[in-house]
Amino acid sequence: MPSPAQMTCTEDFRRLAQRRVPRMFYDYVDSGSWTESTYRDNALDLQKLKFRQRVAVDIAHRTIGTTLLGEPAAMPVALAPTGMTGMQWADGEILAAQAAEQSGIPFSLSTVSICSIEDVAAHTQRPFWFQLYVMRDRAFIRDLIERAKAAACAALIVTLDLQVVGQRHKDIKNGLSTPPRPTLKNLIDLATKLRWCKGMMGTRRHGFGNIIGHAKGVKDVHSLTRWSAEQFDPTLSWKDLEWIKQCWGGKLVVKGILDADDARLAVAAGADAIIVSNHGGRQLDGAPSTISVLPSIVQAVGTQVEVLMDGGVTSGQDVLRAVALGARGVLIGRAFLYALGAMGRPGVSRCLELIAKELDVSMAFCGKTTIADVDRSILVNPDILQGG
Ligand code: FNR
Repeated sequence: MPSPAQMTCTEDFRRLAQRRVPRMFYDYVDSGSWTESTYRDNALDLQKLKFRQRVAVDIAHRTIGTTLLGEPAAMPVALAPTGMTGMQWADGEILAAQAAEQSGIPFSLSTVSICSIEDVAAHTQRPFWFQLYVMRDRAFIRDLIERAKAAACAALIVTLDLQVVGQRHKDIKNGLSTPPRPTLKNLIDLATKLRWCKGMMGTRRHGFGNIIGHAKGVKDVHSLTRWSAEQFDPTLSWKDLEWIKQCWGGKLVVKGILDADDARLAVAAGADAIIVSNHGGRQLDGAPSTISVLPSIVQAVGTQVEVLMDGGVTSGQDVLRAVALGARGVLIGRAFLYALGAMGRPGVSRCLELIAKELDVSMAFCGKTTIADVDRSILVNPDILQGG
């Protein structure tokens, strides 16, 4: 049985998670929409950026600390909002939030989390970021925003790229549901995932904690399925964002921007920061990788708001590449989910430790001692992803 210290990279965690997490929840994480080309490109394009090694520079005193949304962060990384995280490992959102807190970086809680806003707040000290999906039921949205305020959330992330849903083949084939339906296939799979089953039997957190009992008519998982199918609001527009900003009154982050024009519109609608994101390649397959569009978006709005990025970041070197091309910081999704599914909280802590170490040493190889000094000059080929 491996210990966290024996894990040396995200791929180690992915392999272990694949063995330990029930198939439908592992596949839910490790998939993109349709052909998965955008999912793959996020990671492949990051790899194309090569570092300029510099030598004989005094790199004795280094720091990878920065600020994100005006708050100190131990490194330019935050945990991305991800749905059903409590199905990777029992109480997953609470454990990941605690690991993030311990590592000195922000945690983001999804609207469709298993642990509720109140539950995560009760088990952490550091204010987390809350991610909002805009539903048709505006009374529910207003209530969610009030709950996020009451929990002292430090920022509201509004995700704009899921008003219609891209198809992930595996979720359909696996009959993704929470908790898993007791079909023969699922029971056979669960029989090989006893650690996971034991964890789930030890917690009461199995449903969507922010929704069940809060949204009108949603009392259980079955009514929730009906509710969510009808609820994502395709009429969502920039006007709604202004309304949300008013209700919220705090720092507003817009997630799902892939285009410089949309970045400008987000800023005009009141965004304090944006997240360049294609939802980890889970929505519009065929859209460009996030790292390839990052420079144009930084150029468009980078002097007015913080530009964060996510998609395909699995290592400290990937963080460095995104920062080199102008990101204030990155969010990681699958990298921490694999670590959580593999080992729970110690897995996430180890994952963040590995990323921090690799970021620090790689920055040093490039002859830099602070994140603020990192720019495109640390790359041999900063323009390789531009122009088609
Ligand atoms: C997501 N993502 C996501 N985004 C969001 O705003 N709300 C959500 O509930 C979810 N849920 C979700 C579940 C899973 C399993 C994944 C993998 C992703 C997208 C997420 O916030 C982020 O944009 C991507 O995960 C970034 O890409 P990487 O780091 O996973 O490659």
